[in-house]
Amino acid sequence: MNRTAQGFRVLYGHPPEGVWAAPGRVNLIGEHTDYNDGFVLPFALPQRTEVAAARRTDRILRVHSVGTASGTVSRDLAELDPVHPPQGPDSWAAYPAGVAWALLEADVPIGGADLYIRSDVPAGAGLSSSAALEVATALALDDLYALGLTRTELAALARRAENAYVGVPCGVMDQMVSACAVEGHALHLDTRTLAQRHIPFDCASAGLRLLVIDTRVKHSLADGAYAERRAACHRAAAALGVPSLRDVPYGDLERALARLDDPVGRKRVRHVVTENERVRRTGELLRAGRLREAGPLLTEGHLSLRDDYEVSCPELDLAVSAAGAAGAHGSRMTGGGFGGSALSLIDADAEPAVTRAVTEAFVREGYAPPRVTAAAPSAGAARLH
Ligand code: GLA
Repeated sequence: MNRTAQGFRVLYGHPPEGVWAAPGRVNLIGEHTDYNDGFVLPFALPQRTEVAAARRTDRILRVHSVGTASGTVSRDLAELDPVHPPQGPDSWAAYPAGVAWALLEADVPIGGADLYIRSDVPAGAGLSSSAALEVATALALDDLYALGLTRTELAALARRAENAYVGVPCGVMDQMVSACAVEGHALHLDTRTLAQRHIPFDCASAGLRLLVIDTRVKHSLADGAYAERRAACHRAAAALGVPSLRDVPYGDLERALARLDDPVGRKRVRHVVTENERVRRTGELLRAGRLREAGPLLTEGHLSLRDDYEVSCPELDLAVSAAGAAGAHGSRMTGGGFGGSALSLIDADAEPAVTRAVTEAFVREGYAPPRVTAAAPSAGAARLH
């Protein structure tokens, strides 16, 4: 029995029926493309959220999360009600409650459950701690109630929970990679068809390493900027007469831009269309085993997010430039932006030098030192016990 199962037993007085886990993620490339029906290339982190769970005979959902101040939170399944945004010390409970709500809304027959949650995915670091919690909860309920849902269905329900219950208008990337990732691979996902391709991404044998640089600047997707970017993309797609910006081919970009009056809209479109192209090229390089050559595409993607999409922040820009000056092959912000983490592709033996250079640059600017960790592409959600 692992620590999460033991914690469950101490709290609820009986052992759990099982323990399920789902990871956080880093997006290698393909940012702000998922709500434009575009392409993404994320991979799962080794950090994950574990949920020990057991069914109840009534229709109560009890949830407890290690390290939160709110103790155990109880919700009656009959009274689950989206409140936007969830407030107060037990706001984290909206994620598992939202998953139960999304299952019930889809007429999936679940009963009550006791959940005990432990996570080492840092919250607010742009590493999808919320998707990890949603997907681990969804997988636990799926197994407990023998629902037989596919990973893709579970990811879609988890996203529905986040959109409609928690009130964050995210795309489907985070939940899909948390649910479906394969160890040692990046997930190439078409967010329109949800077609997946697992591309080998073995940095270690190529002598490379991926650094995750958490700027410790808290980002919040619930705030208006993310929704505003999304709306701008939808407006531009409508102006161009296409269902979504995914339908603007890279080769048609200049022609499409010439048809848009709004200069800001033009920048947003340029980011999305060039980013889809960068995902395509990065995928090809990975498939050809030319991992190092993907570096410049990462940095290009960052500049596009900084200048055209305007979702970076000074700390992310500094992480990218300092890592580059210390010899990184390429770096970029990852996730929604406005804070959170950057990703850097480096030679394995450059890790101490790059870490030091980035940290010193932060200190020089008067920023709190970043948290720098190495990340290896890890497995998606699974039952542990
Ligand atoms: C957040 C969202 C994702 C995606 C990224 C930006 O992580 O949850 O769906 O839109 O931002 O690429």
